[in-house]
Amino acid sequence: MNRIKKRILSGMRPTGRLHLGHHVGALENWVKLQETANSPTATEVFENFHLIADYHVLTTDLDVSGIYANTIDMVIDWLGAGIRPEASPIFRQSQIKEHAELFLIFSMLITKERLERNPTLKEQARDLNLGETLVYGHLGYPVLQASDILIYKGQVVPVGEDQLPHVEITREIARKFNSTYGPVFPEPEGRVTQFARLTGLDGQAKMSKSLGNGILLSDSPQEITAKMRQAVTDPQKIRRGDPGRPDICVVFTHHRKFNPAEETEIRAGCESGQLGCVDCKLRCAGRIADFLAPMREKRAYYEAHVDEVKDILHDGENRARHEAQKTMAEVRRAMKLGEI
Ligand code: TRP
Repeated sequence: MNRIKKRILSGMRPTGRLHLGHHVGALENWVKLQETANSPTATEVFENFHLIADYHVLTTDLDVSGIYANTIDMVIDWLGAGIRPEASPIFRQSQIKEHAELFLIFSMLITKERLERNPTLKEQARDLNLGETLVYGHLGYPVLQASDILIYKGQVVPVGEDQLPHVEITREIARKFNSTYGPVFPEPEGRVTQFARLTGLDGQAKMSKSLGNGILLSDSPQEITAKMRQAVTDPQKIRRGDPGRPDICVVFTHHRKFNPAEETEIRAGCESGQLGCVDCKLRCAGRIADFLAPMREKRAYYEAHVDEVKDILHDGENRARHEAQKTMAEVRRAMKLGEI
């Protein structure tokens, strides 16, 4: 069988411990792609590179005090979820100088107007009320992301929907470079996970760390139950016996994802009114706790062996740097930089 090998470049900003939304929207998919290498039937085999976008944090927050601890917490969640660092290097953007170098070159290949049209930027500027405080580096956020992807010649970028505009900008930059200086870069393809986003337990559209409205991968069964109990359900279902509408209920979304075997039964119980919200939530919390149990165990190991996490980063950074240096040498050659 002909197996096509593709390189994946994916990353996250180090914002600390991850929640179920990160798992469903990204991590689960990363692990699935990583495991194609061990699957005899996979027609596409992936080689994962996982980036910690620590420079990107600075686009909206100059406070660096939490970056290191957040990085370690996030890496532990990645490892807990099944990223195998021997197969998939994990590395910090700031430890590989070539990102910054390529970022500088790329910043000449895209117009200010194009970056100002970026919908993700507009959304952030609105949500964070940035107005005139928006910095130059924030405008260039997707340009740095393009350098993250292209310095490793990433071909596939598994991302959430909000990141697709950045992948599109990456493609445009790759085309512009290739047509100006010669073919160096692939045009990467963005891949969005199939499962719809998990909404916040408080009913907000977005599960987000800052809102604290999601279950963390590191939460104990007690914490999971406590959060589930607080979850907002169908406002028309006030007591057991009232018929509910599972399709607008965030608890039901969690059942669909983490308790598929009982999905039909839960739906019927909710719609008929026989199943009360408290019971429904406790069952859901139980399934989620089971689902997270192996991750919690792996997490606990790494929390007790942080030196191993540091070694994983150093090793990943050496491997990533090697690739990045190869690409930069090609870029300099194509651009005749340094030729006398
Ligand atoms: N912008 C991404 C996010 O916020 C993080 C990121 C930075 C990234 N560089 C990347 C994602 C390269 C994929 C590829 O989620």
